[in-house]
Amino acid sequence: MRILGIETSCDETGAAVIEGTTKVKPVKLLSNVLATSLAKHAETGGIIPEIAAREQVKYIIPVIREVLLQAKLNEDKPQIDAIAVTFGPGLIGSLLVGVETAKTLAYLWNIPLIPVNHLYGHIYANWIVANGSWEVEKKALSISYVSRATPRFPAIALVVSGGHTDLVLIKKHGELQVIGGTRDDAAGEAFDKIGRLLGLPYPAGPVIAKLAKNGDPKAFRFPRPMWDSGDYDFSFSGLKTAVLNLVRRNSWQFDEAAKTSSLSFKERESFINNNNKLLVDLCASVQQAIVDVLVSKTVQAVKEFKARSLLLGGGVAANKQLAKAFKNNSQLSILNSQFSVPPPNLCTDNAAMIAAAGFYNDQQVLWKEVTADPELYY
Ligand code: KG4
Ligand code: ZN
Repeated sequence: MRILGIETSCDETGAAVIEGTTKVKPVKLLSNVLATSLAKHAETGGIIPEIAAREQVKYIIPVIREVLLQAKLNEDKPQIDAIAVTFGPGLIGSLLVGVETAKTLAYLWNIPLIPVNHLYGHIYANWIVANGSWEVEKKALSISYVSRATPRFPAIALVVSGGHTDLVLIKKHGELQVIGGTRDDAAGEAFDKIGRLLGLPYPAGPVIAKLAKNGDPKAFRFPRPMWDSGDYDFSFSGLKTAVLNLVRRNSWQFDEAAKTSSLSFKERESFINNNNKLLVDLCASVQQAIVDVLVSKTVQAVKEFKARSLLLGGGVAANKQLAKAFKNNSQLSILNSQFSVPPPNLCTDNAAMIAAAGFYNDQQVLWKEVTADPELYY
């Protein structure tokens, strides 16, 4: 079965084609294209919904054409069996662009439509073989610590994105149960808001991760909120406040970094690395605090639910320190749970994960019945 995936929940416009044979095996990625309006939002510290949607109107058709071309499919009547589209959660204007395009194409090509929850998509990125085979992929990624085998059930998934920090128990395809989530900011949101405090561009997660490489993760002992709360909930707003207090106490040092905001990102980064030890230490300590809480709660869940696989998903899953911390966790190796994290481009928003989720949860509906749902949860 060949599926065209379409993803437009936030600032990205993505299309991908996957091919799957059986649900006990991963799907093959035939082509994957992504256009983003991120550059337009970098300086404002967050996504401007109207701008994102207007850009998506421009990108959607060229992106779909390109993905069909790359998969060597005829654009007039491509040989695909279904279209999977993100119908929520997300920004309403953005979701509408993808949903209405998918409905129109499903009608014109007379093929079924599969509405996909974006959050399921992040989890199902773990079922995609992007480079021909798991072994080739493992080499291409050059990350030896990631398991490249078909996930096994029951599985625990940690979905860490800009809007979500969720722990999900998956008993079988389509049977998902949320066992915990954030009570305030999501992990990605914490990275982004702290980055904003420090004058870093949006999205700040990858920037903080990069700066953290040169910093000391033990330099500041930030709070690990709800570390031992005995449940699977998270809270990151206290961490943000702790950083804010520290920034206020040391404002003269951070002013130097802020003043450099007229420089290009590369220049700013090198300024920060060379001149502001405090900032790189802060980034490393923030990252460590977030990683510690995520790992401790997740490992606890793997233990309690005897999960045979642990799956990461969402933009924050692209964080290398997070993946390393899971891989080096001694409890996890005793539990013999297979650890999987998608390649970075399949952790952040993309359409391949939507097509994959569509393959394993193929609830086809009539095109007329699909509507965008910005508030959708699991
Ligand atoms: O999944 P995603 O692309 O979009 C949403 O569905 O929200 O996640 C975006 C989030 C942003 O908050 C971004 O700062 C964060 O993922 N992120 C990272 C990294 N790459 C992206 N956070 C930490 N380390 C990274 N390497
Ligand atoms: Zn996402």
